[in-house]
Amino acid sequence: MSAAEDQIREMLATAIDPREFDQPDFQKDPFPLYQRLRDHHPCYHDRFHNRWVISRYWDVDAVFQATEAYTRGIYDEEGPYEFGKKHVFGPNILEYGRGDHHRWLRNVIAGQFVGQKLNDFLPFIDLIAQELIDKFKEKGEVELVSEFSNQFPIRVISNMLGLPREDEDMFVGWYQALIAGLGFGGEHLARGIAARNEMWEYLNPLLEQRRAQPGEDLLSRIIHAERDGKKMSDEEIKGFVALLLAAGGDTTDKAISNMWYHMMYTRPDQYDQVRENPELWENVFTEMMRYDPVVHMQFRRATEDIALYEEVIPKGGNVIIYLGAGNRDERVFKDPDTFDAFRDDLHMGRENRSGRYKDGKPGHLGFGMGQHFCMGYAMARQEAVLASTHFANQLKNLRPKFKDHPGIFSPNIDSGGFRSPAELWLEFDVD
Ligand code: HEM
Repeated sequence: MSAAEDQIREMLATAIDPREFDQPDFQKDPFPLYQRLRDHHPCYHDRFHNRWVISRYWDVDAVFQATEAYTRGIYDEEGPYEFGKKHVFGPNILEYGRGDHHRWLRNVIAGQFVGQKLNDFLPFIDLIAQELIDKFKEKGEVELVSEFSNQFPIRVISNMLGLPREDEDMFVGWYQALIAGLGFGGEHLARGIAARNEMWEYLNPLLEQRRAQPGEDLLSRIIHAERDGKKMSDEEIKGFVALLLAAGGDTTDKAISNMWYHMMYTRPDQYDQVRENPELWENVFTEMMRYDPVVHMQFRRATEDIALYEEVIPKGGNVIIYLGAGNRDERVFKDPDTFDAFRDDLHMGRENRSGRYKDGKPGHLGFGMGQHFCMGYAMARQEAVLASTHFANQLKNLRPKFKDHPGIFSPNIDSGGFRSPAELWLEFDVD
């Protein structure tokens, strides 16, 4: 066979059909395509979806860090898009790309979710975990997704905000409609926006009341938080509450399910060690965020022409960064397709926005980095670790109810790639 034929064969074997991104196979198992992208098309020009796809660890890192060259904002100040109008959450920080207002908003809010301010809310985390477990602990089995993870973070947030406990179920209902509204489809968007408007109506009198008589709750803290002599507007506060439900609820909920799926089905041998040493849940959380994170991709737009490998991403070009692919980059992690809560080539502790750690090890990419680094990184870890610790301590001899499981997948094409199992049935001993 001639060299030219070899070359053609190689090209065919490694070529990418952009429609692969829309197939159920990709939703179920995106990792083989990620590998082809990393190995053969590290900056892939996807003409079908009109975007450039970045997949290697250090390239994903570089895009997150290069806030001058890429912006996240889809909102174009000079364009026809009216800020917040078509977003299911209303005006919110996700619509700001760069600039002073984004920085200011982050500065006002971010401190509420770390350190002592976060610790103040730990009793709620314990309380809600306990209440949910009490509902099924005599049954000997539980469907973890619907009976626990799906309920837990959102009820924690509702309590942090200081909403009346009797309204919690209503809040959970709005949350579900808002999340559904994030997927594509006019009907879902319309229902999501209707739920958001209802929630805003509900919040109006509470805002007034907490403005006049602040408590220790998160809503009061956000209303009164001040930076550079300015406070958040009512619209911004309500937009943030709506965002909090999705950014802090849906993601953490799925993170808990993913951790348990991997402990039960992928590494039951490691689960035995984790059960004996609950502090290891921290490692399980970190390795889950690398191996099978909830959020697989983020979007950016180039603000200038950018040359990368053999491509030039033009100014204004859409860029998709696959952090789920970067996390499996064999250039960075040994044996990346193995879930290992004890790996020594991953920074195992708490994350930071620089992504650079004293131990010299690379971190997972699951919370992003740089300017838009996740504001709830500490809270998500705290919740997932505490909930899992309670779960494992109180339910004896936890095991999968069914031998086989369909696994983890992304339910909705283009829904942002939030991956998790649809169901997870577990059994345990009851005395
Ligand atoms: C395991 C759970 C979570 C995951 C996987 C996750 C993931 C992410 C990622 C990847 C980003 C970066 C977005 C970008 O680069 O454009 C982000 C941003 C953000 N996250 Fe999270 N997140 C989680 C939990 C939370 C929680 C609990 C909160 C609640 C406070 C939260 C609030 C936010 C906010 C407000 C931003 C936007 C920050 C900005 O634009 O400056 N997240 N998250």
